[in-house]
Amino acid sequence: MEESAQSRPEPKYYTPNPSYREKSWMGDYSWTYNEFLKDPEQFWDRIAKKLHWFSEWDKVKEWNYPHAKWFVNGKTNITYNCLDRHVLGERRNKVALIWKGESEDDERVFTYRQLYREVMRFANGLKKLGVVKGDRVCIYMPVIPEQVIAMLACARIGAVHSVVFGGYGAAALNQRIVDAGAKIVITADMAIRRGKSIPLKHTIEEAIIGAPTVEHLIILRRELRTPVEIHSEMEIDFYEVMTDVEPDCPAEVMDSEDPMFILYTSGTTGAPKGIVHTCGGYMVGVYYTTRYIFDVKESDVYWCTADPGWITGHSYVVYGPLSVGATILIGEGTPDYPDAGIWWKMVEEYGVSILYTAPTAIRMFMKMGREWPDKYNLSSLRILGSVGEPLNPEAFEWFYHVIGKAKCPIVDTWWQTETGMHMITTVLGEPMRPGFAGKSIPGVIADVVDKTGKSVPPGTSGFLVIKEPWPAMMRTVYNNEERYIKYWETIPGCYTVGDLAIKGEDGNIMVIGRSDDLIIVSGHNIGTAEVESALVSHKAVAEAAVIGKPDPLKGNTIKAFVILRNTHTPSDRLKNELFYHVRITLGPIAIPSEIEFVDSLPKTRSGKIVRRVLKAKEMGMDPGDISTLDE
Ligand code: WT7
Repeated sequence: MEESAQSRPEPKYYTPNPSYREKSWMGDYSWTYNEFLKDPEQFWDRIAKKLHWFSEWDKVKEWNYPHAKWFVNGKTNITYNCLDRHVLGERRNKVALIWKGESEDDERVFTYRQLYREVMRFANGLKKLGVVKGDRVCIYMPVIPEQVIAMLACARIGAVHSVVFGGYGAAALNQRIVDAGAKIVITADMAIRRGKSIPLKHTIEEAIIGAPTVEHLIILRRELRTPVEIHSEMEIDFYEVMTDVEPDCPAEVMDSEDPMFILYTSGTTGAPKGIVHTCGGYMVGVYYTTRYIFDVKESDVYWCTADPGWITGHSYVVYGPLSVGATILIGEGTPDYPDAGIWWKMVEEYGVSILYTAPTAIRMFMKMGREWPDKYNLSSLRILGSVGEPLNPEAFEWFYHVIGKAKCPIVDTWWQTETGMHMITTVLGEPMRPGFAGKSIPGVIADVVDKTGKSVPPGTSGFLVIKEPWPAMMRTVYNNEERYIKYWETIPGCYTVGDLAIKGEDGNIMVIGRSDDLIIVSGHNIGTAEVESALVSHKAVAEAAVIGKPDPLKGNTIKAFVILRNTHTPSDRLKNELFYHVRITLGPIAIPSEIEFVDSLPKTRSGKIVRRVLKAKEMGMDPGDISTLDE
């Protein structure tokens, strides 16, 4: 039988080399946090002043519960800070962006000057097509430099971009185009995935049926041997948009509170929510966290593996890293194609020093075995980051030892599309506790509370909330103000995140999972995430998903779907061991009544397990909309 977590050992910490703190932009966490608490507005004022503004704000914050304004009446443009500032300063010929395609020699490199020129030309092209400040532009592209160029070009002229992840199908795309009332859709003829081209054009053609606001489709043609035809008056080639335009396009002067972009979050139920972020506060939030949480230095090579189409990509592929003048790497590839060594090969080849990825990827690599990363020299790495779901202790350990060679701190960053920026993590130099994301970063006040908003005692689970507004917070849900208000009204006076969490005696916060993923068994609330994390804490388990099944006696029973690591094979004996493992970890109430070994789990493209699909299948029901699922 396995050693279990039951003996409640002393908490385990990893303490990074003190030089991480000494040499960091942040410095000492507690000192900085106290500075923030002493005068929150001055704290943000100082950070905002590090950026370029056409004219400064009258007031740092105006809080009119539940509506906040930040840097009131300040005028700025995020692309001025991401491009002009560097080109006018010392980073003109510094590499801004390296793009790596799937095949060996597919690589494109842009210096800051080159990126700046491309963005301005494309921005002028958009203007030529009649796009003006405030218009919504939908971007539906694979991970290629033009995706980033299109985003920046929109922001340049004050058009509100709505990036839709390139893996979504026509129905999901249509829903988003219609809700945003997009005037232009920017797309490509195809994406490349696992050596195959995936045509996109017909998806977009289908998606704009019943979307009367769309005036033009801009199509980037990648396949040049037999280029897709560009038909009607409506369609125009991406590079054609950039020809016969002025090379210069000064950044539009944006009010701090002007909307900057809309980004739809899938949500587990109901229609997607169009999260609205604004120019000033978002810019300050992502600049601050990129500089102080990732500690980006001039020579860093920074790789965030997210698609720019997600919030992680908006904040930590594009806007944050460019605002600090970093060299960023992006890739169109899949983590296990052509083999499971590709990421580590890229780290070695480009000398990646900061790597930001997701637990789902880490667990996949764990399953593949350490022989893959062990083939490559990963010594350039200095900081590792994780985001998207809880980084369970086993995945932490593996990431820390196998990838980081026990020398790289891990920043497990908790945040959301709605928060725009990092909110909770373990700041560089602080002791890291596996399983716990960490504490509120300076600038943020998070807590774990009960339904009435009262802090729960350490060790008790409760609702994760944010108690004060922050600059990069969403301002509304597009076309749905009610849904926005709900975030602030669920627990009075707080922004309710929707996650369950536990605060340790040491103040570190463990995020358990979404509070809406609860199963009620015999009257007890059981978080699917709790049972799943108990299962993956067993050394045979790579991944697990649990669902509730209606039961006449208990209300619900728990069924678990388990993917084993390749070191173990399914057997009844192992099944019994897992039952027992959950019993001693969580207690008898949480024991699944059924365990099924599977090879894969239904997930969204961002790696979240879609339990409702498992549940529907189990109950012999229609799984509903599955357009957002990964293959
Ligand atoms: C939800 C937000 C923000 C980036 C990507 C996801 C979960 C996010 C962590 C973390 C535990 C995390 C939460 C959150 N989550 N980061 N470090 N530890 N859980 O953005 O799609 O808006 O999802 O992802 O449940 O509420 P998103």
